[in-house]
Amino acid sequence: MPDVKNLGFGKYFSDHMFQLNYATSKGWHNGRITPYQPLAIDPAATVLHYGQALFEGMKCFRQTQGDLVLFRPEYNAMRLQNGADRLCMEAPPVEIMIEGIRQLVRVDQAWVPKERGSSLYLRPTLIGMEAFLGVRPASEYLFFVICSPVSSYYSEGADPIKIWVEDTFIRAAPGGLGATKAGANYAASLKAALVAKEKGYAQVLWQNVTHQSIEEVGTMNVFFVFENEIVTPALNGSILPGGVRDCVLKLLKHMGLPVTERELSMDEVRAAYQKGTLKEVFGTGTAAVISPVGELSSNSYKMVINEGVRGPIATELYNHITGIQYGEKEDIFGWVQKV
Ligand SMILES: Cc1ncc(COP(=O)(O)O)c(C=O)c1O
Repeated sequence: MPDVKNLGFGKYFSDHMFQLNYATSKGWHNGRITPYQPLAIDPAATVLHYGQALFEGMKCFRQTQGDLVLFRPEYNAMRLQNGADRLCMEAPPVEIMIEGIRQLVRVDQAWVPKERGSSLYLRPTLIGMEAFLGVRPASEYLFFVICSPVSSYYSEGADPIKIWVEDTFIRAAPGGLGATKAGANYAASLKAALVAKEKGYAQVLWQNVTHQSIEEVGTMNVFFVFENEIVTPALNGSILPGGVRDCVLKLLKHMGLPVTERELSMDEVRAAYQKGTLKEVFGTGTAAVISPVGELSSNSYKMVINEGVRGPIATELYNHITGIQYGEKEDIFGWVQKV
């Protein structure tokens, strides 16, 4: 395995992968662990033409005491099932998905890094495999899982990131695919991310179709800490229901802090900023866990949040969640599962 300092995110892959096939006539069959290898796909496969592609992102940690654990695997397996339903795909039963992942991690356990802040990122993926050019759901699918040892997602590491408030492009719309991890959502997001990067911003803040309410930041859910309330946009069908978002909601309630899921606009955020009642902004996601936002800017304004440094709530949440992941804090919600 490469030196942990050079891991970055998603650059290296472990030696093996899990594969499982579906055909209408056979159901799920031929589950196997194979060497990491290219796939043979018929050029007429639905994934290549009509985007029947869905994925997940989850992590395996090597805890301080040496145990290997998966973090909330059911959450990811259920989300894949929900996404498959929206995309009219077949998804493997939750137990089979998790058992495949568990066996794969056992085989490739040497690839789980031990340094704090690093982990083995798992990428379960589901694709339509039937060779047929009519537009309808495929009758054959491949579910596979690959593993990538990772450290930090952003080059900023745990430092605050700069976010561009996107007011032209949108990522998803009500009634669309935004609540799923369909590959198509990420294709739709690339243009805005590229333009933001050229301006020196790590990612964009996505708004709804009329650009009047806040949805997500980059590939993370977003939280705003105001003086008397912590707010995250309510799930509205175009926002991805993030696993870490769910952890943060549970932890904040457990800590007795006032957290609300509701609609929120940039006008409200800017007004609070001007009054001095906007204390912190942070993104939540599997890759970076908690990512503080140090700047929110658009063509007409620039807001530096909490003087551009990580705030106390983001710090507490990061320490608490990673403490549970690495086995240093009590897992009161039952989030980790031994491999
Ligand atoms: C668009 C988007 N929003 C939010 C998230 C956060 O979800 P999770 O906390 O399950 O990683 C992700 C994925 O990581 C994402 O791709």
